[in-house]
Amino acid sequence: MATREGVSLLFCVALCFLPLEAREAVEGREFMVAFMQHNAHESYSPLEQNLFLYISNPGTNTVNVRVEFYDLDTQPTIDLDIAPEATQTVTLIETLMLQGATKHGKSVHVISDYVIQVQAIYELSQQRKSYGGTGVLPMTSLTKDYVAATHCERRYCVLLVLATEDGAEVKVKLRVGPGDDGGGLPHYNNQTYEDGDEITDSLNRGESMQVLCYRCDLTGSWINSSKVVAVFSGGDFTRVSHLGP
Ligand SMILES: *[C@@H]1O[C@H](CO)[C@@H](O)[C@H](O)[C@H]1NC(C)=O
Ligand SMILES: *[C@@H]1O[C@H](CO)[C@@H](O)[C@H](O)[C@H]1NC(C)=O
Repeated sequence: MATREGVSLLFCVALCFLPLEAREAVEGREFMVAFMQHNAHESYSPLEQNLFLYISNPGTNTVNVRVEFYDLDTQPTIDLDIAPEATQTVTLIETLMLQGATKHGKSVHVISDYVIQVQAIYELSQQRKSYGGTGVLPMTSLTKDYVAATHCERRYCVLLVLATEDGAEVKVKLRVGPGDDGGGLPHYNNQTYEDGDEITDSLNRGESMQVLCYRCDLTGSWINSSKVVAVFSGGDFTRVSHLGP
């Protein structure tokens, strides 16, 4: 979709090239997601930014959905009923967004009594028409080994690994390419890394490691974990207007 300003955000889940007919791959009863840092967060007022979940019920029964939060006392659990073939928007607290290249504890857990689909949306005010969308895969589609496809073009590139079980020993083998406008290096816990380096950390359920790279692309990085993890990746400003007619 083209935007008039020509600037949009695109976030992509690693492994997002699932065939459309594999509907089971995107539907499930349990999901975990964390919201990656977006650089605009530093420069725009919180009032201009919103985080949402879009939760869809593809079935013929009303579903009962519970949205729980890890490490976030200020956001109570949310319970929803979603009618058949309907989508509900759940507005989340803005402080859920993870800030900084380090280990984080804040994440979202979605559980349902029938299968649903979940998308995580970042919006930078309606006037600016800038969005980030992540199709969240259900737990049943997650695995321990991934290759990242980030498609970062400008400013920050983000790789986020979220543990779904305790005691996940995570290794990220970095592949670092230049972004359109530079050639920076990734960092994690105040250390800078280069192409071919490995970053390791151990995570408990709901914890994540966020690797940030300014003006570079992390496509081709490997993520290997001892336990099942979810991986999210993307860039600050990916232009999609040139893809439109
Ligand atoms: C690590 O992940 C990559 C990408 O999925 C995979 O090719 C590789 O075999 C994995 N390595 C191990 C030791 O599991
Ligand atoms: C990184 O550096 C900042 C500022 O010096 C410090 O407060 C923080 O604890 C450091 N983080 C880690 C993980 O070492």
